[in-house]
Amino acid sequence: MPYIENIEALEILDSRGNPTILTIVTLDCGIKAKFSVPSGASKGENEAIELRDEDKKRYSGKGVKKACAIVNTKIFPFLKGMCALDQIAIDTKMIEHDGTPNKSKFGANAILSVSCACAKAASLYLKLPLYKYLGGSFARVLPCPMMNIINGGVHADNSLDFQEFMIRPKGAPTFSEALRWGAEVYHTLKGILKAEGHITSVGDEGGFAPNLRSHEEALDLICKAIEKAGFKLKKDISLAIDCAATELYDKKTGYTEIKKKALKQNFKTRTSEEQVLYLEKLIKTYPIDSIEDGMAENDWKGWALLTKALGLKVQLIGDDIFVTNPKFLQRGIKEHCANSILIKINQIGTLTETIETMHFASRNGYSCIISHRSGETEDSIISDIAVALGCGQIKTGAPCRSDRVAKYNRLLVIEHDLKTTAQYIDGNKFS
Ligand code: PGA
Ligand code: ZN
Repeated sequence: MPYIENIEALEILDSRGNPTILTIVTLDCGIKAKFSVPSGASKGENEAIELRDEDKKRYSGKGVKKACAIVNTKIFPFLKGMCALDQIAIDTKMIEHDGTPNKSKFGANAILSVSCACAKAASLYLKLPLYKYLGGSFARVLPCPMMNIINGGVHADNSLDFQEFMIRPKGAPTFSEALRWGAEVYHTLKGILKAEGHITSVGDEGGFAPNLRSHEEALDLICKAIEKAGFKLKKDISLAIDCAATELYDKKTGYTEIKKKALKQNFKTRTSEEQVLYLEKLIKTYPIDSIEDGMAENDWKGWALLTKALGLKVQLIGDDIFVTNPKFLQRGIKEHCANSILIKINQIGTLTETIETMHFASRNGYSCIISHRSGETEDSIISDIAVALGCGQIKTGAPCRSDRVAKYNRLLVIEHDLKTTAQYIDGNKFS
């Protein structure tokens, strides 16, 4: 049996140049596996806690030396000698020793780094690709990529309030073709932006970050790029947005056009009802089949309104509201909020809980979209999880920047590995 012989963590940098944890697990047979943890910018308030040093003299307080020390001196001693194949036991032990509801004692970054590195070590021991170790012999569904080609919100210093404008190459015959279609649209969009005098610098997730007048202008440009690249709107490629509405919401004032407000321009605010109407108008005008965080995490009533209005027409993904946590998803199911959940491994903090949340969502008819964070590393475990669970959708940024492309490239390798048994399935039933 593959016993855990050593666990060591060190501080490295993520794609934004902020510190994060890299953990290396060594088995008694000499096998080593590592995992590095991603980090969000538009975080849900109920996410598991990311432990930072708060020492202003280093990395503006963002260092993770304390979390590394927790892995090395607190977590390693009680996991030493455990069998790396016992993933549930390993994760449960960490949850128990942490003892807090939000992993604030050890930090979800410390715990997740160990959880994922152990799974990777176990798969190496069994000489199985990670997606087969996690998903078994029948894992063969490649997900529809949701590629964020225009960035806004807190991911870009531009004029757009909504955080993500994505394309979904759902009509492609295979994953590799879907990726090609997406990349071709991305490059065509760059040409259009350039020709129309916009900047073509990119945001945190590799999408362009132009200063546009409105969300509609962003959607128009994307539609233009899709057609110019030779694809049919809706049939070949549909659109998706992540409003990240938590960032725009205040209980007293409602949903505000925050970037216009910051620039002291004329800005609008919308009530929850008006926000629903606004989104309804967008889906009538554009081939959008997926809206993430259309409402804010604390606006449960607004979420129920949105779901009542659009829940039978379009995929409504809960990110901040559910934070990959079955407790919040349970409330969402009860109160008829959303019909889909975004899955981010560091929102909950262990692989076991991530997979449990995905099973729970599926049992209740909610689709699952496995997702990166805006601050990423070169690790591609989310690609393996997507195929292992066969959820049919992945959100991992533009086809640009190595931290994003690593995930797409991993899916290409998995597709190659599966040969003719690979299936490309879009998990969005509204597409
Ligand atoms: P985050 O954004 O990683 O900055 O939280 C991603 C998202 O909101 O989906
Ligand atoms: Zn989101």
